[in-house]
Amino acid sequence: MLIGRKRGWELPDRMATPEHLVLNRRAAIAGAAALGTIAASGSAQAQLSRLFGSTPSTPAKPLPPLTAAPNTKYAAGRALSPELQATTYNNYYEFGLSKSVSGAAQALVVDPWSVEFTGMVAKPKKIGFEDIMKQVSLEERTYRHRCVETWAMTVPWIGFPLSRLLAMAEPSASAKYVVFTTLADPKMMPGLGQRFYPWPYTEGLTMQEAANELTFVTVGMYGKTLPPQNGAPLRLTVPWKYGFKSAKSIVKIEFTDKRPVSFWEALQDSEYGFWANVNPAVPHPRWSQASETLLGNDERVPTKMWNGYGDFVASMYTDKTKEKLFV
Ligand code: MTE
Repeated sequence: MLIGRKRGWELPDRMATPEHLVLNRRAAIAGAAALGTIAASGSAQAQLSRLFGSTPSTPAKPLPPLTAAPNTKYAAGRALSPELQATTYNNYYEFGLSKSVSGAAQALVVDPWSVEFTGMVAKPKKIGFEDIMKQVSLEERTYRHRCVETWAMTVPWIGFPLSRLLAMAEPSASAKYVVFTTLADPKMMPGLGQRFYPWPYTEGLTMQEAANELTFVTVGMYGKTLPPQNGAPLRLTVPWKYGFKSAKSIVKIEFTDKRPVSFWEALQDSEYGFWANVNPAVPHPRWSQASETLLGNDERVPTKMWNGYGDFVASMYTDKTKEKLFV
């Protein structure tokens, strides 16, 4: 028998979802109801499911194993999160606004897949995912992941440094920023029907941040190929920044000399800045960032400055005294 008790890490969506999105969600329901779309369609469940994610019962496709030697230089210093929680408690708005999008995300088709390199590059080009994989050696890195919504996890990601992709792209020396654009295909992604959002999802880093040794392109987790809901076939993992910087299912990488405005920043720039480095002393306008709840247990633990990665990244910011580096 299923017992509906919520454990500590199972944050109710009203807590875990940014407030303006909650308001937007209510507005969407109210609007749809007012128009009679839900009532008249006779498929309220389908409508709600399209808005907020699939039923968790949608079976996940079996994932091929993917192994790589662990790189222990970046030891996370805490226990791994249970795989089940890390792969079923997700943020992937293209598939719905709830955390339960793992079912809907099974519709993501990842083969064929290619990544386009554009902007300030020697020569614009597209490289197939398989070709990328032939040119890199994989490693496993266990990183802490910290979402601005104050949940956190510890995951054995498999992938390669982003600097390898930068080398394939051959950016010009005058490029200052890298912009990551992720898949936006309405045929697979019901969340794109939410027109309020500035699709496609994009994120950006400075060239220096992109070349930092921690910045990782992830293609697997827990010894398997990356599940769709976690951003298959390739995503960013930027462990010293809030999780929204780690863009999923990347299709385009653009080099530019202008600072990009990302998806979240375009929605609410007072809450989601460009830098978004983890700092427990700087609260988000609606959440203290002092502590975090670890997926898979009830523990509330203090959040670390730079998410604990200061030795690797703090020096990149010493001259940026006028920038809003946190949130
Ligand atoms: N990438 C895309 N394309 N769409 C998203 O909604 N959500 C971001 C980030 N990358 C998101 C995304 C946020 S807010 C977080 S916290 C992480 O993905 C969550 O990653 P996870 O679901 O693998 O834990």
